Amino acid sequence: MNNYAKARAHTNIALVKYWGKRNSALKLPTTSSLSLTLDQFYTDTSVQFNETLTNDQVTFNERRLDEQSARRITDFLDLVRNQAGITTKAVVQTTNNVPTAAGLASSASGFAALAAAASKASGLRLNHRELSRLARRGSGSATRSIDGGFVEWHKGIGDRTSFATQVAPADYWDLNIIAILVNQQPKKMSSSEGMQLSQTTSPYYHEWEKLCQRDLKKLKIAIKNHNFNDLGTIAEENAMRMHALTLSATPDFCYFDADSLKAMRIVHQLRESGIPCYFTMDAGPNVKVLVEPEHRESVVSTLQTAFGPDNIIVAAPGPGVQYLT
Ligand code: PMV
Repeated sequence: MNNYAKARAHTNIALVKYWGKRNSALKLPTTSSLSLTLDQFYTDTSVQFNETLTNDQVTFNERRLDEQSARRITDFLDLVRNQAGITTKAVVQTTNNVPTAAGLASSASGFAALAAAASKASGLRLNHRELSRLARRGSGSATRSIDGGFVEWHKGIGDRTSFATQVAPADYWDLNIIAILVNQQPKKMSSSEGMQLSQTTSPYYHEWEKLCQRDLKKLKIAIKNHNFNDLGTIAEENAMRMHALTLSATPDFCYFDADSLKAMRIVHQLRESGIPCYFTMDAGPNVKVLVEPEHRESVVSTLQTAFGPDNIIVAAPGPGVQYLT
């Protein structure tokens, strides 16, 4: 076996979101989803299997994790070891160029990079589809970070059929996604807990499943036609309907904070003034704004004035997973 590998994976932002599992252990989603991989936010992870170790050693942003904090990563390594038919422990080093757990999908880039590095280091030779299925076991949204550009995660009917494929590469459409960092604190309600609560208690959940199917179809047509207004409208509506599942849960919960609402209002005002831009939000308060390059500067300067230049990051479509060694 090769023992060592290092990989980089980028985060993705869902335009039609994944919000619910029909099998938690296998992380099989209730609906298919479609995302855009982003160039600015990524995770680098190296994995070294070493026969002399008695435990996995995990370092995250240069900080050694204790056994409990590393559990999700060591559980994932067990899956890889199982597939590869080995029992060797590993040293894992991860550097995140993403504000962790603030709704910028660090688990997506994190588990995509870990899946790529761990599988290669363990001697497994996985194709894209197999890698995407493996990443899914770490975090659902990681399924989509194996590929670059626009990516669809097919919900499938079981483990073998639930994986992602590329709809269009990163250079297919010159778009920008402006991230507004309104709050970088880790979220209080994890996406897994949030999904579970929405699914089991929101009276609108069944409607959401039907809606996602329709949105996905419409979104693929908008991508095919380079129709920015349709793409933005579908993404914004889909995001708000996902958040409606949190507001309508029992007990209710909410990922917005006051600054998220301020960002949404600014996007609405910009649109009313004739600048086409749309927002989306994941399971955290940060807002991402979709815009085409011709209107980027006016949107960036408005957002910088409102939130401070340091809190605005301009991203573009990004690549799929890459091996760094
Ligand atoms: O991959 P998870 O379990 O962190 O779930 C991600 C859920 C959303 O980011 C809110 C939506 C999505 O499709 O990425």
